[in-house]
Amino acid sequence: MYKKSALSIFAVLVALCSLVVNSQERVRLGTPISESDLEGFDLVAEPDGTGFPSGGGTARQGKAVYDINCAVCHGANGEGTSGNTIIVGGDMQSEGPPLRTVGSYWPYASTVFDFIRRAMPATAPKSLTNEQAYQVTAYVLFMNGIVGEDTELNANTLPNIEMPNADGFIDRSHILSN
Ligand code: HEC
Repeated sequence: MYKKSALSIFAVLVALCSLVVNSQERVRLGTPISESDLEGFDLVAEPDGTGFPSGGGTARQGKAVYDINCAVCHGANGEGTSGNTIIVGGDMQSEGPPLRTVGSYWPYASTVFDFIRRAMPATAPKSLTNEQAYQVTAYVLFMNGIVGEDTELNANTLPNIEMPNADGFIDRSHILSN
């Protein structure tokens, strides 16, 4: 009697296990992430120049990239199509609320590049090649009068570009890290 029920409990357990195994096969619980997929998450371009991809580009090359991928939301000349899509002009010294754009607000060109490469176009982030990201960043800076049309943006030149509002921030990181 005892042996019989032990046997049937065992049989039920075996059946359950095979159910679990089968259902795991059916739901396909994922595959390990590949190195190339991981690179897509691991985009970091820091102000000191580390982490920039190879390649480069100019505003002249970036105009076409901009017209096709960005103008629909940011306007033909960066004037925007809504309050938070204005990326040219702006004024941090105005009496009223300041208008923050790439030209008036962003302290580092490297961060602009990193943001565009990571987050734009808003409907298809990371769809630009590194070359296109350099080119279109150059074009956004050019529209703001920060670089020339043929200034080459690359891993070496990007960290050295002086942004108009670079001194408009107070570094409190030494306080926060204590
Ligand atoms: C579908 C609409 C759309 C498209 C296309 C698009 N953007 Fe944007 N972009 C936005 C919106 C909305 C914001 C504001 C996001 C926010 O504030 O979080 C933004 C923000 C930005 C900013 C930061 C602006 C600031 O001062 O904070 C930059 C720079 C930028 N986009 C560049 C680009 C570039 C370059 C392209 C083309 C490669 C592009 N965008 C395509 C909608 C778009």
